[in-house]
Amino acid sequence: MPHLLEIVGINKSFGATQVLKTCTLAVDPSETVVLIGPSGSGKSTLLRCVNLLETVDSGDIFFEGENITRARRTAHLLRRQIGMVFQNFELFAHLSAAENVMLAPVKILGVSRADAHDIAIDLLRKVQIPEKADAFPDELSGGQQQRVAIARALAMRPKLMLYDEPTSALDPEMIREVLDVMATLSAEGMTSIVVTHEMGFARRAADRIVFMEHGEIIESAPSDQFFGGTVNDRTRRFLDQILH
Ligand SMILES: Nc1ncnc2c1ncn2[C@@H]1O[C@H](COP(=O)(O)OP(=O)(O)OP(=O)(O)O)[C@@H](O)[C@H]1O
Ligand SMILES: [Mg+2]
Repeated sequence: MPHLLEIVGINKSFGATQVLKTCTLAVDPSETVVLIGPSGSGKSTLLRCVNLLETVDSGDIFFEGENITRARRTAHLLRRQIGMVFQNFELFAHLSAAENVMLAPVKILGVSRADAHDIAIDLLRKVQIPEKADAFPDELSGGQQQRVAIARALAMRPKLMLYDEPTSALDPEMIREVLDVMATLSAEGMTSIVVTHEMGFARRAADRIVFMEHGEIIESAPSDQFFGGTVNDRTRRFLDQILH
């Protein structure tokens, strides 16, 4: 089966600092990859390069076999197929939960407001908060806001979801409800790359764990091998830090 996403030897510097060093990673359809690594190792930058929010200096990124690395003119078309969820939700404060979800289908896909509303309600049901359709972001808990953000990303029917530390701004009691939604989506076959240090989620939902350090992909291991303890020494040292 062809890869959905293939990153081949990408390099990226900010000024004199090389942030991504010849990173190579392939993601197959329906696969969930959990990306871990110390602060500053380049995890967010890698996701942002995939979503064309950053341009790479060299190397190539293929999406469905097509080289998208320098697809500046069609970046907006590509971004529709890749949903992104951020640490801080980034909902539109002046729009209700349903309106946040409806916005892209109406504005970008040209869906009627009535149809977009139906889509929004379905997606809010999927993320377990249909009763919050008319609530504004400041009336929602962090966990609820993040689930609206996930519904909003899903409204574009993406082929790939990128999550950048989606639960790290949440109180502990809300983390679980967001991870449950993500795990359900993964189990239903949504291809995903998730930056998270929630190793319980990784154990439950990941097919593969990727460890980055200093801009390099140090390890990319199938989940069972990873949790079976067969990991690189540097990965082990990092895990010892986050687990103890
Ligand atoms: N726009 C930018 N301009 C300059 N330097 C940047 C920019 N974005 C990121 N960096 C630098 O690139 C390196 C990697 O950052 P990145 O945000 O990708 O790391 P990260 O692994 O996501 O870290 P964290 O776990 O803290 O989120 C860091 O040294 C950071 O300071
Ligand atoms: Mg980051």
